[in-house]
Amino acid sequence: MDILELIKKRRSPRGFWDKDISDEDLEKLFEAARWAASSYNSQPWRFIYGKKSKNPEVFDSIFSILTEFNQAWAKAVPVLILSMATNKYEANGQDYKHSWHDLGLAVANIALTAESLGFNVHIMGGFDADKAREIFNIPDNIDPVSVIALGYGGLPGNLPLDIYKMEIAPRIRKEISEFAFDKPFTKI
Ligand SMILES: Cc1cc2nc3c(=O)[nH]c(=O)nc-3n(C[C@H](O)[C@H](O)[C@H](O)COP(=O)(O)O)c2cc1C
Repeated sequence: MDILELIKKRRSPRGFWDKDISDEDLEKLFEAARWAASSYNSQPWRFIYGKKSKNPEVFDSIFSILTEFNQAWAKAVPVLILSMATNKYEANGQDYKHSWHDLGLAVANIALTAESLGFNVHIMGGFDADKAREIFNIPDNIDPVSVIALGYGGLPGNLPLDIYKMEIAPRIRKEISEFAFDKPFTKI
C-alpha cells in the first residue's frame, strides 16, 4: 500500500476483537522500532510488554497503572506495552532533550507496522508514571512515557455507549495551512 494511504488508515481504536497478536508480529513491531532515527543514534526507546496469553502477570501490572477510563476499553486487548525513554546520553551523561521525540519516532514505526499487518495500536498517556516506576523498578535515567495497547480493532458490540460513540465519531484534523508556514510568525 502507498505509505500515505497507510498513514491515513492508521487509527486508535477502543473496540477490539478477542484475537491474539502472534509472537512473530510482535517481534516485527520491535524490529520496526529498532530502525527509527534518533539523536546521535542513541536509540533511547525501552519497552516492557505484557501478553495476556504469555506473561499475564506483566500484562496485569501494566493494566493496573492505567486510568479508569483507559481500563474500561483496554481490558479487551491482548497486549500492553509500557514505553519508556532514557533521559541522559549514554556517551556523556548529558541531558537527552530529544529522547521523547525519538521514542515517538520508534512508536510511529510500531503503529504503522501494526497497521500494515492488519491490527492496531492505541497509545495512552493516561497512566500513573510513578506507579509504573515503582512496579517495574524503572531507574532514574529512564522516563515512563506511554502505554501502548495492541489488538485487532473493531466494533464487537459490547462497548460502553460513550466509548462506542467515540469509535464512530468522524476523525478531525487541522488544515495544513494551520500548522505549516512559509514565513516567520507575525510579531505581536
Ligand atoms: C501521547 C498520546 C497519548 C494519548 N493518550 C490517550 C489516552 O490516555 N486515552 C485514549 O483513549 N487515547 C489516547 N490517545 C489517543 C488519541 O486520542 C488519538 O491518537 C487521537 O484522538 C487521534 O485519533 P487517531 O489516532 O485515531 O487518529 C493518545 C495518543 C497519544 C499520541
